[in-house]
Amino acid sequence: MQLADRFRAYAVAAEAEGSPVYAEWARGVAGDDDVLRVVEAAPEARRQPVLVLATCRWLGASPGPWSRLREWVLGHAAELVAELGRRSVQTNDVRRSAPLSLALARLEGPVALLEVGASAGLCLYPDRVAYEGGGRTWGDVDSTVRVSVDVSGPVGRPVVPEVAWRGGLDLDPLDVLDDDDVAWLETLLPPGPTDRTALLARAVSMARTAPPRLERGDAVDDLARVAALAPPSARLVVVSTGTLVYLPGRRRQQFVDAVRALDAHWVSYERADLLHDVGPVVDPPVTGPDAFAVLALDGEPIALGDAHGTRLTLLHG
Ligand SMILES: C[S@@+](CC[C@H](N)C(=O)[O-])C[C@H]1O[C@@H](n2cnc3c(N)ncnc32)[C@H](O)[C@@H]1O
Repeated sequence: MQLADRFRAYAVAAEAEGSPVYAEWARGVAGDDDVLRVVEAAPEARRQPVLVLATCRWLGASPGPWSRLREWVLGHAAELVAELGRRSVQTNDVRRSAPLSLALARLEGPVALLEVGASAGLCLYPDRVAYEGGGRTWGDVDSTVRVSVDVSGPVGRPVVPEVAWRGGLDLDPLDVLDDDDVAWLETLLPPGPTDRTALLARAVSMARTAPPRLERGDAVDDLARVAALAPPSARLVVVSTGTLVYLPGRRRQQFVDAVRALDAHWVSYERADLLHDVGPVVDPPVTGPDAFAVLALDGEPIALGDAHGTRLTLLHG
């Protein structure tokens, strides 16, 4: 997709997500050759609209009209391109704990969770979140971290197993105890929907009481090393949510092979059609944005859902 088209598509997504500022900015970038040229000076993998707009704000551009952002970008082009070279999309979306909890509920505990592409590790607490959806509540119902999920299909009575260990692997882990890292996580959220910012703040407070063990490393090359840190007394579960899209195609298969070489379960909530090793969903009950991602346990699809895990359709069988 051409860069301008990516920004145009992102404008539609930002509008739907309740961020008129980002929608206006993204439309503005898409239609402005001078600004597009600045973005094109950044490494190819760093030109994602959400990363570009977040980096502008990180460097001081405040939400406002497109004309003001345009002037800001043209006046700070070198600084912006340099910072884009150092940053990547690390949005840590606690809402994805909901699909994760439903997959884990099919397993016996205690489990040792190892999240690949963990960012700050905020999805490593599926047992400490209160969930509500499909007429049910589950998880830690007294938790301050509350997630609503629009779920249809056979929810049953999910019981999230005990989590005995929380580990993560990331190329560039963020530290929940570091205020700068938390500020970057906040900046990665589009301005507008304040509920996401509030959820992030509550999840950070909770994680700060028992920070996860995060290791710097690559999803493929370092998986076995980090898996070996998990206690053998708990069942190891490798988790990947919204991460494998950032691996080049060949590396995705190598990641699946590396997981299969471990004595572990594997929960994935990844873009549909991304992984050959996640079985096909025959006659999908939903399409479009509600079938953006597939929730799978050991490669067997359990549900279809949106990008953030807020709308889920559980599959029968
Ligand atoms: C969009 S974030 C997703 C974070 C979290 N899984 C979630 O759903 O909220 C993707 C994360 O994957 C990490 N990442 C990208 N490529 C990676 C790789 N090859 N190995 C390990 N981590 C990687 C990034 O640094 C980033 O923190």
